[in-house]
Amino acid sequence: MDLEDLLVWRSFDRRGYERHARRATGADVPVSLAGRRVLVTGATQGIGHALAQGLARRGADLELWCRDPARAERLRDELLAAGAAAVGLCIADLGDLDAVRREASRTGDAPLDAVLHNAGLLPLERARTPQGFEVTYGVHLLGPLVLTEALLPRLRARAARVVWMTSGGAYTQRLHPGVLRDGVETRDRYDGVRSYAQTKRGQIVVADALHRLLAPGVSAFSVHPGWVDTRAVRESLPGFHRRMGPHLRTPEQGADGALWLSTAALGEQALARGGMWFDRRPVGQHPLPWTRPGRRTLQAFLQQCVEDAGLGAGPLAGLAGVV
Ligand SMILES: NC(=O)c1ccc[n+]([C@@H]2O[C@H](COP(=O)([O-])OP(=O)(O)OC[C@H]3O[C@@H](n4cnc5c(N)ncnc54)[C@H](OP(=O)(O)O)[C@@H]3O)[C@@H](O)[C@H]2O)c1
Repeated sequence: MDLEDLLVWRSFDRRGYERHARRATGADVPVSLAGRRVLVTGATQGIGHALAQGLARRGADLELWCRDPARAERLRDELLAAGAAAVGLCIADLGDLDAVRREASRTGDAPLDAVLHNAGLLPLERARTPQGFEVTYGVHLLGPLVLTEALLPRLRARAARVVWMTSGGAYTQRLHPGVLRDGVETRDRYDGVRSYAQTKRGQIVVADALHRLLAPGVSAFSVHPGWVDTRAVRESLPGFHRRMGPHLRTPEQGADGALWLSTAALGEQALARGGMWFDRRPVGQHPLPWTRPGRRTLQAFLQQCVEDAGLGAGPLAGLAGVV
């Protein structure tokens, strides 16, 4: 391990990216992605936009999951001009499970090479999804699980990769399934930062469980982008944004790890491994040992997700049974 990586801020920041980019990683992101079809959520801005641009420039076929039809159409034009072979649009709020189910059933049956679960938010005030769940739980976990289940036949057709954009903020959290439905409170007030970090920890667990359940037919990974200059950071963490300023990564730098993980010729070992990645390398999930959950907590969390997402009768029903 690079000793500088022991200092989180010298690893998650732009200097960390530049240092990590000099390491050898084997296969690069392919120059051409012609013939590959990738679904990206949250592509209207930030890291997701950089991901979609990177895929479009290489000629991939894209399916974009957005919530505003007018912005989605502008984005489609932009990505076609950048080189995308085709751009399909799915319009639904990922926190609305009925809308996700409805829209997913309209996406057709073309095989998919990868899904990038990137959409995310860090709310300052408590908000709920139409089904009554705290919004980060709905958008980071339940919606993407419903979408993954609906896409499974298309994912299996190409031994696809399912990539979850988590956050290094998850490192601070020990998973507490009981708080997810309503969000975390600190001193009787909704705590958006901890609610966000709990669900980001949850994404790492879900990716691992999906991998165990579905590989080698479908592989699942989690990846974190470091600290990136995007709207989410500007608006939800303004003090942090001011302090880090020029040291934040660009959206392209933040997107690189997920772009690579979803498209590069990974060796058999990496494909079999799944797990969490950062800057094209596998990383540990519990640098703080007290955040490691027991098996019963993992099972309770996964079972709760399956029930809340309404997956009890489908192919992901057994998610809790694999840990
Ligand atoms: N920036 C960082 O430093 C950082 C660090 C760690 C992890 N991440 C993760 O990276 C991912 C992207 O974040 P970002 O920083 O690029 O944020 P961003 O610039 O705010 O972009 C977030 C994207 O998610 C979409 N989105 C939010 N809520 C949605 C919903 N309910 N349904 C559908 N789409 C929704 C947004 O759509 P609209 O444009 O319609 O709002 C937007 O396209 C997130 O998962 C975040 O947790 C970011």
